[in-house]
Amino acid sequence: MTIPIRKDEDEEIFSFISNEFHDELPRPSPPKKSVQELFSLTGKVAVITGASRGIGLAIAEQFSQAGASLALIDYLDCSKQQLDLMNDDNLVKSYQCDVSKSDQVESTISKIEQDFGTIDIFVANAGIVWKTGNIIDETNDNYKGYDQLMGVNLNGVYYCARFVGRIFRKHGKGSLIITSSMSAHISNVPMNLTPYNVTKAAVKHLAKSLAIEWAGFARINSVSPGYSDTGLNDHLSRSFRGKMWSLIPLGREAQPFEIATAYVYLASDAASYVTGTDILVDGGYTAI
Ligand SMILES: NC(=O)c1ccc[n+]([C@@H]2O[C@H](COP(=O)([O-])OP(=O)(O)OC[C@H]3O[C@@H](n4cnc5c(N)ncnc54)[C@H](O)[C@@H]3O)[C@@H](O)[C@H]2O)c1
Repeated sequence: MTIPIRKDEDEEIFSFISNEFHDELPRPSPPKKSVQELFSLTGKVAVITGASRGIGLAIAEQFSQAGASLALIDYLDCSKQQLDLMNDDNLVKSYQCDVSKSDQVESTISKIEQDFGTIDIFVANAGIVWKTGNIIDETNDNYKGYDQLMGVNLNGVYYCARFVGRIFRKHGKGSLIITSSMSAHISNVPMNLTPYNVTKAAVKHLAKSLAIEWAGFARINSVSPGYSDTGLNDHLSRSFRGKMWSLIPLGREAQPFEIATAYVYLASDAASYVTGTDILVDGGYTAI
């Protein structure tokens, strides 16, 4: 519906959100489309970090099925995944990059822009978990593990956001999706994951804050997965994982494809009015 503007009310209206937005309000609404068109990613260029396996690979598979061209980022070689995901309609390339190194992130994103011409969707998903328990034991006396965790889970997302944000601003559009965790909402038991939980809460709020900072040109959201069967938790014994299962209302870990669908929604035009939100996909864990 178009809001009628009366002759005596025709003064220009601007956003209070930021002094950087000078366009007149209301902004134009997107055209109405069929549900198939809304969820399609045909013609879009998507970048996914941590794409070699797990949730990142599942996102890449579903984005490819939805028609997107893909740039896969991982610190491991993803050339096999690249071949598997290529089809007649999309371009897929892989890039080896440690997201905790800002110079590597900057040069990789710049190379992707050269190779694909633009970036429409960026999924900052690469992450590692905290394996050394409570923070006051001797095993944690040097800060190597802590620094590495902050470097990948928090700084890595920040660097990716910063460099892709410039491309989004240049083109006046873009969708950034950050992988947070249910650990941003609760403290896991019985394991102690405090530094991990802190990184996930931080990136959830990074998404919310950027949704405001970039409201004139991009949408930014996060996804908070619950326990997922990806390899990330393989260091835990079966009996320990059993304790995790016993606390999940749906009684099992998620398969990666069950998490990835939330990213398809957020990346697509189906979510054109969604920004600054977090989608929990946790089997009901945080409902208790
Ligand atoms: N599996 C779970 O239970 C779970 C739950 C909530 C949130 N998450 C989050 O989901 C994301 C994906 O995790 P996953 O479960 O698929 O784990 P995973 O270990 O299967 O995948 C993580 C990927 O990130 C890559 N990676 C790690 N460090 C990197 C670096 N420095 N630079 C580039 N790539 C790097 C790895 O090579 C791997 O491909 C993470 O952010 C994780 O914290 C996982």
